[in-house]
Amino acid sequence: MIVTIDGPAGSGKSTAARKLAARLEVAYLDTGAMYRAIALACLRRGVDLNDPRAVEALAMGLDLDLDCGPTHTRVRVDGHDVSEAIREMSVSEATPSVAGLPAVREYLVKRQRQIAAGLGSLVTEGRDQGSVVFPHAQVRIVLEASLEKRAERRYQELAADGQDVTLAQVRDNLRRRDRDDARHWTPLVESGAATVVDTTEMTLAQVIDDLERLVRARRQER
Ligand code: C5P
Repeated sequence: MIVTIDGPAGSGKSTAARKLAARLEVAYLDTGAMYRAIALACLRRGVDLNDPRAVEALAMGLDLDLDCGPTHTRVRVDGHDVSEAIREMSVSEATPSVAGLPAVREYLVKRQRQIAAGLGSLVTEGRDQGSVVFPHAQVRIVLEASLEKRAERRYQELAADGQDVTLAQVRDNLRRRDRDDARHWTPLVESGAATVVDTTEMTLAQVIDDLERLVRARRQER
């Protein structure tokens, strides 16, 4: 069974997807980590993010390896674990330039489908999972939350991680990313193909309980 979870940064997607996968005892795929890994490699190798050909060439040739467990996605580049490094603010800032390149998207979509084919069942999380990558997934979910709430959540995470950022910087970064990202899941919401869960006033435990109920109900219908 494939469950897709899409939505904006800070909506609680990653944690919800990870915990849902653990409850369902299936693998968890964090597709944002793939875009982030390419952005990190560009930064480290001094590849100009405004040079699409250079970024595409790096992406296609990158030794990018994912380990998808029920509680984690570990990411390795050239055999080195970069799972923590890809979370830095500089990488969050650089990733949209990478994610905006059609050739990079096409390549990663192919890789995501290969990973799913190998795993069979999974909970996959990103922006385009229910619309582009797995349009025939059995359960398609969009998580939403207000910008203010998302900024607060993301700020707490980064601050706990010791990163030197302000709430205003985090809010600006989210607002910028929203503009590019929303087009991926808007068609799913407008057509009623996805179940939308607004997490603004919900605790994480409530979100996971809701999602688990939804998946189990869908399983019984089949
Ligand atoms: O979810 P996360 O914040 O890790 O995603 C980082 C960035 O990667 C997003 O802002 C978006 O630009 C891009 N992304 C994407 N498609 C996905 C997952 C992430 O474009 N499926």
